[in-house]
Amino acid sequence: MKERRFEDKIVLVTGGNSGIGKATALAFAAEGATVVIAARRENLGNEVVETIKQKGGDAEFIRTDVTEPEQVEALFAAIGERHGRLNHAFNNAGTSVMIRRTANATLEEWDTIMKTNLRGIWLCMKYEIPMIRKEGGGCIVNNSSILGVRCNDGLSIYSAGKHAILGLTKAAALEVAHRKVRVNAVCPGFIETAMSQKIFDHNPAAKDALIFTIPIGRLGKPEEIAGAVLTLCSDDAAFITGKEVVIAGGHGIRP
Ligand SMILES: NC(=O)c1ccc[n+]([C@@H]2O[C@H](COP(=O)([O-])OP(=O)(O)OC[C@H]3O[C@@H](n4cnc5c(N)ncnc54)[C@H](O)[C@@H]3O)[C@@H](O)[C@H]2O)c1
Repeated sequence: MKERRFEDKIVLVTGGNSGIGKATALAFAAEGATVVIAARRENLGNEVVETIKQKGGDAEFIRTDVTEPEQVEALFAAIGERHGRLNHAFNNAGTSVMIRRTANATLEEWDTIMKTNLRGIWLCMKYEIPMIRKEGGGCIVNNSSILGVRCNDGLSIYSAGKHAILGLTKAAALEVAHRKVRVNAVCPGFIETAMSQKIFDHNPAAKDALIFTIPIGRLGKPEEIAGAVLTLCSDDAAFITGKEVVIAGGHGIRP
């Protein structure tokens, strides 16, 4: 019998209609949470909601583009109206662009990456912190990346944004620790999702080359990130805040 650590909790997962976000939404729902999935593609979001409901859980999809401040504001207004509260949030929505060296990247690429991966997380946190504080505490987990603690050439903008997420996470954790709001980050290594598939479609040889750098010898599964997010949000992690958790199959241990 599965533990139900999130019974009666309202949990937000941004980008919860695909990949790591979808796996995390399903895992929270399986442990009793009511999950709010905020993402752009309505059909995929509704499919996740349907899957959760078929398994006896509770979820809803609220169409949200995290790069649009009005839509983010409307998302939290809707959570307040429909659920009256928020207990935990996984700020996961993110994007990447094609591999391009710093000097060749465009202003548009910079803006797309930063507005989604960094500004989008900050905007969500602006609303999450007061809502979670009001409930007497809870947890925010931000999705950074192994590229938030290391760098690969050709991914400098993505890497800059993911490093910045860790700064934001740690500074915010300091501000609200005494209010029992914990703020942590996960740093996934290379995980089998649509995002990594896009890179392999562009360069099929990249997959084997990457696997060679992962001591466990395979890519990660979205569920393996979900497990860490749930642990961070649970009471098992009650003394963990302002930390990044690298989940990468050992990638990055070797210099
Ligand atoms: N796959 C990997 O190897 C890997 C590694 C490290 C970190 N990550 C991070 O994990 C997160 C999830 O990525 P994934 O691998 O599951 O890929 P994915 O493409 O399956 O999921 C990305 C999700 O973010 C959503 N999204 C993108 N832009 C958005 C926007 N403007 N507004 C709302 N939602 C938006 C997408 O719709 C999708 O639901 C991202 O932040 C990514 O940077 C992924």
